[in-house]
Amino acid sequence: MFYKALVRPWLYRADPEVAHERALNLVASLGRSRIASDAVESVFLVEDRRLRQTVFGIDFPNPVGLGAGYDKNALGLELWPALGFGFVEVGSVTSQAQPGAEPPRLFRQVTQHALINRMGFNNDGADAIAARISPTPHRIPIGVNIGKNREVDLTRAGESYAATLHKLHDRADFFIINVSSPNTPGLRKLQDKEMLDALLAQLHEQVPILLKIAPDLSFDQIDDVITLVQKHGIAGIVATNTTIDHPTPPEGGLSGAPLRARATECIRHVSRQNQGKLPIIGVGGIFTAEDAYEKIRAGASLIEVWTGMIYEGPAIVRNINRGLLRLLARDGFGSIAEAVGTE
Ligand SMILES: Cc1cc2nc3c(=O)[nH]c(=O)nc-3n(C[C@H](O)[C@H](O)[C@H](O)COP(=O)(O)O)c2cc1C
Repeated sequence: MFYKALVRPWLYRADPEVAHERALNLVASLGRSRIASDAVESVFLVEDRRLRQTVFGIDFPNPVGLGAGYDKNALGLELWPALGFGFVEVGSVTSQAQPGAEPPRLFRQVTQHALINRMGFNNDGADAIAARISPTPHRIPIGVNIGKNREVDLTRAGESYAATLHKLHDRADFFIINVSSPNTPGLRKLQDKEMLDALLAQLHEQVPILLKIAPDLSFDQIDDVITLVQKHGIAGIVATNTTIDHPTPPEGGLSGAPLRARATECIRHVSRQNQGKLPIIGVGGIFTAEDAYEKIRAGASLIEVWTGMIYEGPAIVRNINRGLLRLLARDGFGSIAEAVGTE
């Protein structure tokens, strides 16, 4: 109520990227104050053993995470747990700092409950971001999402991902290899069989590594990805990134409500192909507990929000966790883990 009546109109008066920076600054400054973060926690945190899970060897206090690209530079790590998140994805991080695409590069599609972005991996680079993350363990699991600098040739992408991974290896609880953002020319070609095989072969760190896929892959292409994921011991799939399949400009990746059904289809497909054995983080168009539950029952153990944070505000995390508890009770499940892949 408070967010939609007061904060959102204030943020919406500004350019979307400026509004996002304001929101992040607020998160960072509240996180620096113990009193403020305790107050935030008392309002937003939902704790319940039915929400807890161990997935790819890591303990998660609840299944609701912050999607990659929201806190690219690890500025809000103190406050995310107090806002009730069960984990967060930092990044995408590239080996070197880079400015990203020319603004404007983030657009609201308010009537559709969507965003279009072509940020192009603006970030402070692996060294600066590593310095902001304390070595493990963390209060909630931190995943670092890795991309590649724009000028790195696709044939050398594997080395670049491996080098970034190495710089951050003792900072993150798990990693996500991002080969699915539409805003770095050619990046999504890294999802092709031969290129992906070569890339994954170069990753040797002893930490869980997940792969994030585009919703625009066909099921056949997803099957090729799954084969390689199994071959290289990848710990799980993040499904999905933004889609380029949208009829109207501006150019960029579309997220939010129009992506919801397709992202769920991808999750369902991955889950069925693996008889539910490969852990999945489901993301795309989640605004409510029902949306999150749809992805869980389709096969996702964990879910993430991004565009939903913009439209619903930070209470989205509490609302989803409370709503999930209600839905579990309604359907007779004793925990999230029991509900995964049961549609
Ligand atoms: C402005 C913006 C920036 C993003 N940046 C990244 C990124 O750097 N790396 C990444 O893997 N995904 C990135 N994403 C994609 C999200 O993590 C998520 O996969 C996608 O937005 C779908 O979820 P949603 O519908 O809840 O937004 C970005 C999304 C938005 C809207």
